[in-house]
Amino acid sequence: MKKTITLVAAAILSGGMAASQGVSEQSKAVMENIFTRSSVREYVEGKKIKVDEYIEPLLRAGMSAPSAMNRQPWEFIVITDRERLANMSEEFKNASYLKSAQFAIIVCGNLKEAIEGEGKEYWVQDCSAATENILLAAHSMGLGAVWCGIYPIEERTKALQSFLSLPEYIIPLNIIPVGVPANKQEPKDKWKKEKIHWEKFGNTDKKVMEIDRNTIQIKQNAAKITPSKTAKPTKQKNKTKADDKKTSK
Ligand SMILES: Cc1cc2nc3c(=O)[nH]c(=O)nc-3n(C[C@H](O)[C@H](O)[C@H](O)COP(=O)(O)O)c2cc1C
Repeated sequence: MKKTITLVAAAILSGGMAASQGVSEQSKAVMENIFTRSSVREYVEGKKIKVDEYIEPLLRAGMSAPSAMNRQPWEFIVITDRERLANMSEEFKNASYLKSAQFAIIVCGNLKEAIEGEGKEYWVQDCSAATENILLAAHSMGLGAVWCGIYPIEERTKALQSFLSLPEYIIPLNIIPVGVPANKQEPKDKWKKEKIHWEKFGNTDKKVMEIDRNTIQIKQNAAKITPSKTAKPTKQKNKTKADDKKTSK
């Protein structure tokens, strides 16, 4: 596990990893990092970590997220001051874990940079993608973190805007306390085949492949698909006059 963390962290710190097809060693490390992440709410109090060595890679991970029309409508507020973390933990009960956290990142949407019109709310998805990147990057570095929701709960949003002196157009989506995990965390297994619908909603039977989360091997699992004897050849769509000429020759 340590080796995996080092590998993923090294890849993140060095600014990226080369893409390779199939289940390579790199993809195994990345997948394992995804499968073993879980919310961490207790941190080793008073533990000194080199905050600056960790914060920048985490923020780089956050800013690497996809965003609608590449607007990157995000701002990141970093809190490292112990007293401020303690005060926040008092005021925001759903993020009380801030008390023992080494630092916190607040992911905010910048409405001035969001898409105009109907797509405006995409900022929530953009900032959510950035948040997940931060959570995964923290886990890859042996740190623990948890997404503590703020927006769209109005009371929390207003309270945090006031606490951080945010202008009206900066909306805090969440608080992410980060620290050295106090305990080993077991990830939840959320794999539910019945959540997968093949070709159309409700068709959950066509079990073709399954990902074994322990070995990360793709294995053939299910009923072999045999073509139906009664199946009629499908009509060709979008046939052009030129195609007709070709077939008539
Ligand atoms: C939008 C959102 C809001 C959340 N808010 C809180 C929160 O206020 N406090 C908290 O302890 N965890 C919060 N969580 C974390 C979830 O409880 C956690 O992700 C979920 O139980 C699954 O556990 P896991 O992250 O360990 O897989 C939130 C997660 C999301 C995605």
